[in-house]
Amino acid sequence: MLWGGRFNEELDSNALKFSSSLNADINLIEEDIAGSKAHALMLAKVKLISKEEAKKITAGLDKILKEWKNRSWNPDPEKFEDIHSAIELKLFELIGDTAGKLHTGRSRNDQVATDLRLWIKKACGELTKLAENLQHVLLKIADKNTGTIIPGYTHLQRAQPISLAFHLLAYVEMLERDKKRFKFVKKSANSSPLGSGALAGSTLPLDRNFTSKQLGFETPTANALDSVSDRDFILDFLNACSIGMMHLSRLSEEIIIWSTAEWNFLELGDAFTTGSSLMPQKKNPDLAELIRGKTGKVYGNYIALAAAMKSLPLSYNRDLQEDKEPMFDSYFTYGASLEIMSAMLSSAKFNKERFASELKNDFLLATDLADWLVLKSIPFREAHRIVGEIIKRLEAERKNFGSVSLEFLQSIHPAFDKTVLKCFEINSALKNKKTYGSPNPELAKKEIKEWLKKVR
Ligand code: ARG
Repeated sequence: MLWGGRFNEELDSNALKFSSSLNADINLIEEDIAGSKAHALMLAKVKLISKEEAKKITAGLDKILKEWKNRSWNPDPEKFEDIHSAIELKLFELIGDTAGKLHTGRSRNDQVATDLRLWIKKACGELTKLAENLQHVLLKIADKNTGTIIPGYTHLQRAQPISLAFHLLAYVEMLERDKKRFKFVKKSANSSPLGSGALAGSTLPLDRNFTSKQLGFETPTANALDSVSDRDFILDFLNACSIGMMHLSRLSEEIIIWSTAEWNFLELGDAFTTGSSLMPQKKNPDLAELIRGKTGKVYGNYIALAAAMKSLPLSYNRDLQEDKEPMFDSYFTYGASLEIMSAMLSSAKFNKERFASELKNDFLLATDLADWLVLKSIPFREAHRIVGEIIKRLEAERKNFGSVSLEFLQSIHPAFDKTVLKCFEINSALKNKKTYGSPNPELAKKEIKEWLKKVR
């Protein structure tokens, strides 16, 4: 026990089991050891312990990490309250009473806050790499599909023709914003709470700048009371994971729709689909469904912590221990989802010809037709009405844009001349787009080239 002095009894075993966070905070072991080593070096620097003692402590800590890595030491969650106490007690076993000097001027409150910030910084870096890898996968597919025409939708109703490259580039943009969000989270975690003590600093001459630098933080945190109870950076992290998952979930939904017989636009590799135990013909996009399904849990993780923190008086309260499970779960779920999405998409085969002929006759080019009239000085609202009438007439005769003649158009409005007929060519529809940010294939090619310079 870490607080033996004033207690006559050990903590009840069920109470210990209930209150242990070791199952989750074992994931902080590297950060905890790094934090303790920095603290020990600082204690020696300000002469609160000797250099020899600091050496003994840091060597002991290194040994603990090594033993944990090869699992010759694996602390039991039924015996220890958390990773911090497990390590401290193990250090006593390894180096004897000197271990008792490590906690000088430190509380588990500033210790755990430091570990969490170090861990979040690392996690942000890892998730950013995985997001970038998915961008790369998307860009490689986009690169081959700047001319692959698909219907673009609003309200899941066919709206205007776009290219597959343009569609995938939208996800590249989303992932870029996700990366930016993690950059922000990393920054918001980038100051060191170590030396804040339990809540009010210390009477000892601790050098907070030293430990902050040693651990790679930008600065020490400014207010001890806030430092030990601030978990905003975890909420920011959980929010970034939630939005990231939302993007993956939307992409999953498209993959699921695209791989139906009705759409028949994409076939996932066998290694990323499952069969049915009953229906022999089935090939199911389970992995995309699981990413979509897990998104709810990741949203829940944000809510779990936000709700746990609501109404907490300053400063540290044990409720804050509940920060860990949501944090690790969102990290593992989002990270694994990014990896699976990259691999699954790499396995996908797109049916490039799927829409080319079908869209020729569709009404997808109606807006372009209205734009043509606008260029003939017809007010847009009037142009909209004219094209609407054309469609109404064609639909009444069960016809489509495929069977439109110049005579027919001129019978509806005299402004039409033969140059309008190029509005009905689906293949030039994309090239006709002039605005920056449109699916013009030349623009897409340029975009992809620029992206591939940034994303590897
Ligand atoms: N396991 C605790 C946590 O994660 C460590 C801090 C404990 N502090 C305390 N005063 N009981 O929050």
